[in-house]
Amino acid sequence: MKSDFYNLAFSTIAPYYDKLMSFVNYPGWVAYIEKIIVLSNIKEKLIFDLACGTGVCLDLWLDRGYEVIGLDKSLNMLRVTKKKLAEKNRGLLINGDMRNFKLARQMPIITCLYDSLNYLLTEAELLHCYRRVYDALSDDGIFVFDMNTIHSLRDEWGNNTFQRRDEGLFSIWSNSFDPNSDISSLSITLHVRRNGEELVLREHHQERGYPLSRVEELLNEAGFTISLYRHLTFTPATENDLRIMGVARK
Ligand SMILES: C[S@@+](CC[C@H](N)C(=O)[O-])C[C@H]1O[C@@H](n2cnc3c(N)ncnc32)[C@H](O)[C@@H]1O
Repeated sequence: MKSDFYNLAFSTIAPYYDKLMSFVNYPGWVAYIEKIIVLSNIKEKLIFDLACGTGVCLDLWLDRGYEVIGLDKSLNMLRVTKKKLAEKNRGLLINGDMRNFKLARQMPIITCLYDSLNYLLTEAELLHCYRRVYDALSDDGIFVFDMNTIHSLRDEWGNNTFQRRDEGLFSIWSNSFDPNSDISSLSITLHVRRNGEELVLREHHQERGYPLSRVEELLNEAGFTISLYRHLTFTPATENDLRIMGVARK
């Protein structure tokens, strides 16, 4: 058995990401966000997805008649997205950083989903991202995002190790939470077969939880009006929720 050392987040798991996330109800997420779009009276069907990953949501938006642009830092994740979108011959992909990006035109809807903002480990980075999003939105545009709460990282992930099997793919998720920084460090170990060889892939991830009041303050500082909901609902978010959904209006 060959074993690699800990790699950067999303460098080696990209080809396996969709299997690992096969339990996630992405169609339900997209349907919920479309409700927000309709309620916000946004007519232009154009989505810019920040940290789009392997493009699962981009693909679902295309099926709903939206044009899509995706941005991600990881080239390997974007490679998977590119293959997915190639069949439809639509969609634009950008290899970039959500803390520092600029678009040629402003967008009516920007999304950032599935923990991606938790990967920004300082308030300064989060604010940089919010400011770039603000600049990239059209007037009356919306920024829809989710975040894991501190409760989720501290009490759900905690200092626990989980074993999973997703569509036959075996993985080990080992977490350790630092209460001083509210950062969870996560080692993901995947056991895969490639070209007849058994491989062990390891990646190191870090996510930070932020108090909801700070998320609101930083979004306000970037210029937004903000509502935070319990994930996939329109109930106001609390610190006891595991995942929250933000709707920030320019
Ligand atoms: C948990 S994945 C979520 C992917 C996708 N949004 C989804 O819903 O499946 C987090 C993504 O954030 C990306 N990411 C992390 N930090 C980033 C940054 N500073 N700029 C752009 N992308 C980033 C990673 O490459 C990865 O694709």
